[in-house]
Amino acid sequence: MNTRQLFAPTRTEICGIPVTDLAEKFGTPTYIYDAETIRQRIEQLRQFDVIRFAQKANSNIAVLDLMRKHGVVVDAVSSGEVHRAQRAGYELHGAPHPIVYTADIFDREALDLVVKHDIPVNCGSPDMIRQLGQAAPGREITLRINPGFGHGHSAKTNTGGDHSKHGIWHEQLDECVALAKENDLTIAGLHMHIGSGTDFEHLSQVCDAMRQTALEVGSTITTISAGGGLPTPYKNEDEGLDVDRYFQLWDKVRKDLETEFGHSVALEIEPGRFLVAECGYLLAEIRAIKKMGENLFYLLDAGFNNLARPILYGSYHPMSIAFSGKPSTEFQNAIVGGPLCESGDIFTQEEGGFVCARELPVANVGDFLVIECAGAYGFVMASNYNSKPLSAEVLIDDGKAHLIRKRQTPEDIVAGEVIPG
Ligand code: LLP
Repeated sequence: MNTRQLFAPTRTEICGIPVTDLAEKFGTPTYIYDAETIRQRIEQLRQFDVIRFAQKANSNIAVLDLMRKHGVVVDAVSSGEVHRAQRAGYELHGAPHPIVYTADIFDREALDLVVKHDIPVNCGSPDMIRQLGQAAPGREITLRINPGFGHGHSAKTNTGGDHSKHGIWHEQLDECVALAKENDLTIAGLHMHIGSGTDFEHLSQVCDAMRQTALEVGSTITTISAGGGLPTPYKNEDEGLDVDRYFQLWDKVRKDLETEFGHSVALEIEPGRFLVAECGYLLAEIRAIKKMGENLFYLLDAGFNNLARPILYGSYHPMSIAFSGKPSTEFQNAIVGGPLCESGDIFTQEEGGFVCARELPVANVGDFLVIECAGAYGFVMASNYNSKPLSAEVLIDDGKAHLIRKRQTPEDIVAGEVIPG
């Protein structure tokens, strides 16, 4: 099944609702999510026994609620994410575990929380094993293993290899097995996530590493997690993921382990981006158009305070213009930037900060620019830099647009600040 749509340089509507109506009703900048796209992506992954959403990609409780209603469980990388999951209706107990805490450290709050509520833990460091063992002996744990190599769309999203802080180093496996034993913990599962936006060549290496590591740990293993990292298209020439091939590679590992251990082994997948990237649009208004020497700039009311991926990783996002007045059929090269008082506030940049122009329709101030494929790592990485409010978020389902987060007010931004005396 390939349900993806190609990216076009202009658009009049999002999920059947005119862009101009959305802008008028909710203001700009606003994140807009399409529930149907999320449902389609979930269905593509049904072959896996467990779909565990890496909620760090988009943790609005309305999105989590939608996931829950479709049988998707979640991971949590902080006590805040555990809290969100609970607010979205996830229980603390059940099979598969509705919430798994996965991290490389416990801050004190998280350790107290997982102990108090008996939340399953995926340990990414020997210290986590030690600390959990001391606080809550007798439990089952899973280990996140760094197999010694990694891959990602950017050096900053590569989570394997010796430059990465993530997971338990593969050569420390024996030590960690002994540590678990000493602390009366049973290693019931293994997890490997080598990076975000990976490919098949690296995937088959991970599969081999998983098989070998699981055989070394032995038959206490009842779950393996393939982590996340499934790539999604950001350009028309990007191919959609062959999910079947992805599943087959992992299923083979699972079957080999079942044969070896003589019991069933559950296969989990833990995507963030794949489930939510394509559902999201950042709707912004063009507020100024100006020339700087040879360069033309479209300046939006959205900046890297709203979407940080371009400034952090040089990430490419498709863009389209929604005309508020007379549409133009002409194109021109434009650099697209935001309102922040910082020259890096440019959406059309490559890794290393190189500013590029993009061929876009000729637009006017007051037209809208839609930054597409912005549903993953968009709003969740937003900030109040320059005292800009966090934007609104809207979920469109069944032709209706629901406000799922109010835009912050100036007073919200200073809430919690105190002048002493
Ligand atoms: N599982 C673990 C343990 C992870 O660390 C991550 C992502 C995922 C799953 C989900 O990965 P995904 O399926 O979304 O690729 N902010 C970056 C991505 C950082 C990913 C961090 N960990 C970006 O905007 O591309």
